[in-house]
Amino acid sequence: MYSIAIDGPAGAGKSTIAKAIAEDIGFIYVDTGAMYRAIALYFLRKGIDGHDRKLVAAECPNIHVTLEYDEEGKQQVILNGENVTGYIRKEEVGKMASVTSDVPEVRAALLVLQRDMAQTSDILMDGSDIGTNVLPDASLKIYLTASVKVRAMRRYKELQEKGKASSLNVIEQDIEDRDYRDMHREHSPLKQAEDAILVDSSQMTVDEVANAIINLARERGLGD
Ligand code: DC
Repeated sequence: MYSIAIDGPAGAGKSTIAKAIAEDIGFIYVDTGAMYRAIALYFLRKGIDGHDRKLVAAECPNIHVTLEYDEEGKQQVILNGENVTGYIRKEEVGKMASVTSDVPEVRAALLVLQRDMAQTSDILMDGSDIGTNVLPDASLKIYLTASVKVRAMRRYKELQEKGKASSLNVIEQDIEDRDYRDMHREHSPLKQAEDAILVDSSQMTVDEVANAIINLARERGLGD
């Protein structure tokens, strides 16, 4: 089985790009952030404080997250039997995920599932510790990033298109806070693996980034 790991900070465009690449080369796309978000949703719904690490750890045996794929091949996230794919993209869920993902019991539960998936299919997995921890032997590792300013502007435009009011300054601050938490958490922090290729998308379009990574994959004989 072959695997491609794409790690990087929030808002760098990982999922858009990863989806396009996976489709092009015929790999299954695994969005690990969605798994952390499903767990975060569980805590939000239960009104549990994500900073209460003991309580978060104690709840883990009650949380079962799995992935399924619909007829179009789109990933669906199942939380304790419920398809929660439509509920996990909110800002508050992302923030909670950034906090609860630092609890070792949360990471351990998802690690098993993530490694299992790589045993059974050719996968393209994105997240923050895929190249460094989940799939250290991945066939290709990419660290995808963009400047805070560019990521904030992309998010601002996205919200504007949805007709949602927002402040660029607040978004920028949120991104900086999230980066700090993800890069400084105790367990498997976000960082570039030594053998990962750095791709800075600040000045690149989605197609340019996707094509650059597809070319790297093909150079290594990956994909159909
Ligand atoms: O990529 P995202 O915004 O969906 O990720 C949500 C949070 O989950 C992010 O703040 C970091 C965390 N995460 C993680 O700790 N490990 C991963 N492999 C993926 C995401």
